[in-house]
Amino acid sequence: MLVTGNDILVPARAGKYGVGSFNTNNMEITQAIIHTAERLRSPVMVQMSEGAIKYGGQDLANIVIDLARRATVPVALHLDHGSSYESALKAIKMGFTSIMIDASHHDFAGNVKETKRVVEAAHAMGISVESELGRLGGIEEHIVVDEKDAFLTDPEEAVQFIEQTGTDYLAIAIGTSHGAFKGKGRPYIDHARIEKIASLTGIPLVAHGSSGVPQEIVERFRKAGGEIGDAAGIADEDLQRATQFGIAKVNVDTDLRLASTVGIREALAANAKEFDPRKIFGPARDVMAQVIEHKLGVLGSVGKA
Ligand code: G3H
Ligand code: 13P
Ligand code: ZN
Repeated sequence: MLVTGNDILVPARAGKYGVGSFNTNNMEITQAIIHTAERLRSPVMVQMSEGAIKYGGQDLANIVIDLARRATVPVALHLDHGSSYESALKAIKMGFTSIMIDASHHDFAGNVKETKRVVEAAHAMGISVESELGRLGGIEEHIVVDEKDAFLTDPEEAVQFIEQTGTDYLAIAIGTSHGAFKGKGRPYIDHARIEKIASLTGIPLVAHGSSGVPQEIVERFRKAGGEIGDAAGIADEDLQRATQFGIAKVNVDTDLRLASTVGIREALAANAKEFDPRKIFGPARDVMAQVIEHKLGVLGSVGKA
């Protein structure tokens, strides 16, 4: 069933598990996300960035909405990194049930102002809102607290921000970063900061940049002819601990990008004569489903729907 973000995330925060929020750009990605969630009885969120909306538009949104409506588990369609009030309104008109307004590059007052406008409009339509406070970026474990504080989310500010905006869930900067290169070795996650923010606030918290960049997938990518440098993601154990401390929405894009490319590359490498798209995109969908299954297990959402 198609539900709002709040319908999925409030129980996750209370039950101390994480919900995967996976980016989609086409039918196969959407099927892998929703069908795997159904198979594992897990709630799930499907998100489209503004780039995905530019690429797939209402056609892609309708695929997600149709699969979500027919799904036997709760599914929300979420706008990822909405950059403006206009973008948020457009997504609401398209049928999204959860909206992110990312005004984190503004100063505190500017972020509050932009976020509040979107919250008011979305709430009038019964749709829940994510916003962001802090600057995403990898940090080294040994850097001094003052430097961490310069861009990681400040707990006291988070309290003020939530009060002043009425946001339903909040993305916080805790050491994760977007993409396949999240730092050397095991990227540092500030669990103490998550715990502190969660203890002062009651709403679901969101972690962006949460791909694990599994080494097995990276190796298969290389073996099938792909080129990639020192890729590193968030360790399963670190992500699992984060869900115990209050992270309820866990954003994953890179892992599915890698998995789908592995499936395509392996299919083409295995048979140079292949040109049936189903024999190329089908394997991509299968590899994505395996990665999603693993992630839902790590987050603890299996069997919660
Ligand atoms: O955080 C951004 C997501 O990975 C979406 O990326 O804007 O290239 O679709 P995109
Ligand atoms: P990754 O691409 O690092 O998984 O991050 C996804 C994300 O945060 C989307 O908002
Ligand atoms: Zn993000």
